[in-house]
Amino acid sequence: MTDKDVLMQIRDLSVTYNSRLGPVSAVDKVSFDIFKGEILGLVGESGCGKSTMGKALMRMIEPPGHITGGQIIFDGEDIMTYDQKQMRDFRGRKVSMIFQDPMTSLNPVQRVDEHVIEAIQVHEPKTKKEDALERAGSLIRKLGIQKRRMNSYPHQLSGGMRQRVMVGLGLVLNADLIVADEATTSLDVIVEAKLADQLRDIQEEFGVSLLVITHNIALVAELSDRVAVMYAGSIAEIADVEPLFDAPLHPYTKGLLQSIPNIKLEDEEELYKMAGEPPNLTHPPSGCRYHPRCPYAMPICEKIEPPLDEVASGRLVKCWLYFDHPEKEEPTIKVAS
Ligand SMILES: Nc1ncnc2c1ncn2[C@@H]1O[C@H](COP(=O)(O)OP(=O)(O)OP(=O)(O)O)[C@@H](O)[C@H]1O
Ligand SMILES: [Mg+2]
Repeated sequence: MTDKDVLMQIRDLSVTYNSRLGPVSAVDKVSFDIFKGEILGLVGESGCGKSTMGKALMRMIEPPGHITGGQIIFDGEDIMTYDQKQMRDFRGRKVSMIFQDPMTSLNPVQRVDEHVIEAIQVHEPKTKKEDALERAGSLIRKLGIQKRRMNSYPHQLSGGMRQRVMVGLGLVLNADLIVADEATTSLDVIVEAKLADQLRDIQEEFGVSLLVITHNIALVAELSDRVAVMYAGSIAEIADVEPLFDAPLHPYTKGLLQSIPNIKLEDEEELYKMAGEPPNLTHPPSGCRYHPRCPYAMPICEKIEPPLDEVASGRLVKCWLYFDHPEKEEPTIKVAS
């Protein structure tokens, strides 16, 4: 996937929430790319910063949270420099977001068709109502929703239909990136599998990029082209889906996959049960944030934060096992490209 065109470059992005107990470092100097037309899965334990990251990509972090640093480069421009008007245009037209419970983002007293017309007319005021409806109608049908549903209010739709309406609102403006945060979590397994299939079809037809944030690793394995594994506000590892599941490199990824039944890792001896709890992000551990839980931890891990760097083509890992450093005493593991 490395020869793909880059849609969005995230560089040193940090987000902090000011809580009563002090600042919570929810996203800590995170850098990664989203490629055009890819499905990127973002996984990690509860509280590791996935939703914060998804919202930060659209500058939708609300107080007490703040983006405290970094760049979000889209089409060659850093959206951190955009004013409010530019941001309004960016949200929806370039990037749109689907939340876990679409009821919170759909207006309960607006019918589906009214939502779609509004979405189009906010961004394209010259579009006539009939044309907007025509565009929306064909899209809604592609998403597997009957035309008559255009006259329904959100509460008259099932959870799965509401999710698809949200996907439709993103696509109708030709957004380049759709961020889906736990979009399938509230659905039953059959509807979830169907929505996952539809997301894949939509991705292929519209060439849109998808950032799929989820706890559901099986869904990520099935749906994603690449996977980013997040731990305690950082990205531990990014790789194409097959190498990630076949041979995870970061000890945290190994632990995470090991906690899922039916996933068999190549090297049985390396399996271990993940001990302990994720850290409190008001006082994150020094060095590598995973070191207190890591069975491979070395003295350097407590002292110096490892870089998230490439160890083989398209494989990035943030772990001292794979890099040299003057303060490191143990041999470095070499990864075949
Ligand atoms: N409004 C807030 N005020 C203070 N801390 C917050 C706030 N929102 C999130 N946090 C903290 O930021 C960290 C990341 O939260 P976030 O919701 O991004 O995690 P997540 O990975 O999406 O979790 P989940 O899988 O449960 O949805 C957590 O430690 C959380 O407690
Ligand atoms: Mg979340």
